[in-house]
Amino acid sequence: MAGKITLSVIKADIGGLVGHSASHPDVIAKGREELEKAQKGGLLVDFDVFTCGDDLELVMTHTQGTDAEKIHKLAWDTFVAGTEVAKGLHLYGAGQDLLADAFSGNVKGMGPGVAEMEFEERKSEPVLVFAGDKCAPGAWNLPLYKMFADPFNTAGLVIDPNMHDGFRFDVYDIHKSKHIVFSCPEELYDMLVFVGSPDHFLIRAVYRKDDGDIAASSSTQKLALIAGRYVGKDDPVCVVRCQSGLPAVGEALEPFAFPHTTSGWMRGSHMGPLMPVSVKEAHPSRFDGPPRVVCMGYQLADGKLIGPRDMFDDPSYDEARRTANLVAGYLRKHGPFEPHRLPFAEMEYTTMPAVQEKLEGRWEDI
Ligand code: 13P
Ligand code: 13P
Ligand code: MG
Ligand code: MG
Repeated sequence: MAGKITLSVIKADIGGLVGHSASHPDVIAKGREELEKAQKGGLLVDFDVFTCGDDLELVMTHTQGTDAEKIHKLAWDTFVAGTEVAKGLHLYGAGQDLLADAFSGNVKGMGPGVAEMEFEERKSEPVLVFAGDKCAPGAWNLPLYKMFADPFNTAGLVIDPNMHDGFRFDVYDIHKSKHIVFSCPEELYDMLVFVGSPDHFLIRAVYRKDDGDIAASSSTQKLALIAGRYVGKDDPVCVVRCQSGLPAVGEALEPFAFPHTTSGWMRGSHMGPLMPVSVKEAHPSRFDGPPRVVCMGYQLADGKLIGPRDMFDDPSYDEARRTANLVAGYLRKHGPFEPHRLPFAEMEYTTMPAVQEKLEGRWEDI
């Protein structure tokens, strides 16, 4: 394909069936219908729609570049149309992630999560689209670190001369709205000071060092910081390009064989293990969890999305799922105690401060 292609993944929770556990087929159908119209009209090269729990994931290829108003508007309008369907069915939290009244230029900051990248399509272009439910955008920090910086995970960092130089990580401070770029492996220890705190610092993109080509992009929206109150968890997305000088597909998937903990789960207020599952098993229901991650794999062919393959639909993740269940049970036994419940400062955006306010005057000096 001549010229660059853009892969945009834009997601929103626009209503759950039942509660926050899954999406309704009519909402998914509406999403497909809207994107099909856009493809027929020539705006999209191709698209796919899938779900992770109660989150609707729009996967779109086009030639408009990243942050394109037309594409963001299409996603917004699609979510608005889906919300109407969800409202008709009285689904739970219809329109939950649409935090603005009307679209204004870019969906970032308006609720939906966005992971986009523009690149020259290679002769063969395998891409992975990860989506999480009941988790926070920082959930990608540990896997992205392992994929692009840990030779115990990614053999290619040692073996493949095209990635032997390493990768650059763009890290975002969500509280200060600043970013910094770390060059790895030489700045690994510096970077870990920050990315090891995933509710504060997010890896938002990864670039190959030798040619600057983009390798990964993740959504960094933090709904509570946008809305100033609890409105559901951020349930992020992440796109990773693979093979030929980038991590092999199996190297990009391997970090998820360890179900690391993320914040999210019940009321977005608990730590829990991130369980890798197929889309048909991405229906978190135990204590609204535990948190799930799904991965859809595609081969791009002149911008067409060949696939998808449901990558975690594989018995080799059975032990990760079993471990996640064991860890979930262990953490649950803490009930309202940390570290299962999030640290006090993180609870600021829940309904807990209302209780604190009520008791404000009862605290006496000692
Ligand atoms: P490539 O260098 O062609 O991506 O091959 C690596 C590989 O697939 C090994 O798993
Ligand atoms: P979602 O962020 O997936 O809507 O979940 C919200 C929640 O409160 C789960 O208990
Ligand atoms: Mg929800
Ligand atoms: Mg969700």
